[in-house]
Amino acid sequence: MTDIKEILREYSTRFNAEIAVLFNGAEGPEARVVEAMRYSVMNGGKRLRPYLIYASAGLFGKSFEQSFQAAASLEMLHSYSLIHDDLPAMDNDDLRRGKPTCHKQFDEATAILAGDGLLTYAFELLAKSDYPADVKVELIKLLSQGAGAFRGMVAGQMLDLYAEKYKNPENPVALINHIEEMKTGCLLSYACEAGAVIGGADAEQRQILLDYSRKIGVAFQIADDILDAEGNPELVGKTLNKDKEQNKLTFVSCYGVEKARRISEDLIEQAIETISFFGSKSQDLQALARFIVERNF
Ligand code: IPE
Ligand code: IPE
Ligand code: MG
Ligand code: MG
Ligand code: MG
Repeated sequence: MTDIKEILREYSTRFNAEIAVLFNGAEGPEARVVEAMRYSVMNGGKRLRPYLIYASAGLFGKSFEQSFQAAASLEMLHSYSLIHDDLPAMDNDDLRRGKPTCHKQFDEATAILAGDGLLTYAFELLAKSDYPADVKVELIKLLSQGAGAFRGMVAGQMLDLYAEKYKNPENPVALINHIEEMKTGCLLSYACEAGAVIGGADAEQRQILLDYSRKIGVAFQIADDILDAEGNPELVGKTLNKDKEQNKLTFVSCYGVEKARRISEDLIEQAIETISFFGSKSQDLQALARFIVERNF
């Protein structure tokens, strides 16, 4: 059996060494913002989104190097979303990846700017990348949509903050699904689609990867919500029970942990079936899907 944890660890070691270099070169007192960006990107993290790009592109024979520029860009953008998510005006968290959040380590204004800097840098890295022009434009289009305010991550974050007000008490599930798909699912979908675009997938292959990503996206957020409710704080590296405290609308708040877990496990079984289309080449993506719901961090 594939030991996906070991594979992720090896991938992260290589990825971390390469991404660290991208923070070199800042000078003067304004380098403080780059320090805050480096702090937030380099302080751990599972590197799941970069790995998803790598493994999806890998289905089409692409290497670590060929996926790296898109992978680094996405981790920059993801880290920005975490810095802003933790701000006092949003989830007001003190702990991220087992360390003080960016605004605790630096200050609030620096954290806002570090987020802005990472978001911008994500697109700079894509624009300057070595991909062919058509691939580059497609990646920029997909990432801006996936991260954006219309049907992307920002839209999901907006709803997450005010969901309690908008929910239909008769049917809260539709809204929860919508939130989870957007705030978390969209960037995971981008990762898989980016892998397909880099790999030169045909329409059917791309659709399969997209279907897989949609299933693991919602399951991933359900797992995050379960960890918030009953994880081990040492392993999770975040302050727990925040969702309940802040009245967040989640599968856990709606159904309780047991049923939420069953829903996520069902989604993962469907994701595995979907990705099996690629045969034995999809073994690591199948194992990753399992890891998403079985993880304890
Ligand atoms: C946390 O994402 C934010 C969510 C979308 C649930 P991860 O659990 O992937 O965070 P890191 O990158 O590993 O810290
Ligand atoms: C955050 O969801 C999703 C993002 C877009 C950052 P959460 O607010 O549940 O993520 P954590 O639990 O703080 O990592
Ligand atoms: Mg949040
Ligand atoms: Mg949060
Ligand atoms: Mg959470």
